[in-house]
Amino acid sequence: MKKTIAIIGAMREEIAPLLESFGRYKSIDFGGNTYYQLEYKNYTIIIAYSKIGKIHAALTCSTMILHFNADCVIFTGVAGGLDSTLKIGDIVLATSLCQYDVDISAFGHPLGFIPESSIYINTNKELNDIVKKVAKENNLAIKEGIIASGDSFIFSNDKKKWIIDNFKACAVEMEGASIAVVASLLNVPFCVIRSISDGADDNANISFDEFLVNSASKSAKLVLSIIDNMPS
Ligand code: ADE
Repeated sequence: MKKTIAIIGAMREEIAPLLESFGRYKSIDFGGNTYYQLEYKNYTIIIAYSKIGKIHAALTCSTMILHFNADCVIFTGVAGGLDSTLKIGDIVLATSLCQYDVDISAFGHPLGFIPESSIYINTNKELNDIVKKVAKENNLAIKEGIIASGDSFIFSNDKKKWIIDNFKACAVEMEGASIAVVASLLNVPFCVIRSISDGADDNANISFDEFLVNSASKSAKLVLSIIDNMPS
């Protein structure tokens, strides 16, 4: 049976380089999004941008798995760098993801924790190994670490420090943890790849506007090489 690879971005800019590279695809509208489907080598590939935020990303990921029968999910896009060693355009591969904006500490729970779930959800080792192998072959340094997700664009040194202190994350964005929750509960392997567009600091909004397209295309380019290295 032909396998289906789902590729999700949050914004049009994050998937545009993939659509441009593949060139030919079928467009399918479903649940307020457009899904782009194509055949490539041994695979069916389905690509979509979810729109920004955790709820949209959860819907898109669920649709990819339950409606389009995705066998694995790759998220590609940009992130704000939290780790001081990260520069614009650097690639981060999530080892695990968390929701920094979940807070039921009123009931004694740690920040980010939801009963019957966990603060951190791990990404898939086999997929991550392929990402690392492909990055190495392309002389691309990647940083592995925790990615924190929440429904805010972080552009403050104080909030940045708070996320680092509480979640030990190396990057912040607005969708990855949704992919982690949905794909892990539905037993579908997933990985999250992000390229740094800003430092999540007081200048992040300006940096984001400047580097979104460039950084998004770096992440998308890596995803294209990963697909060429997927086992058939
Ligand atoms: N995605 C890219 N940069 C971000 C930031 N600073 N905060 C949240 N999501 C982002």
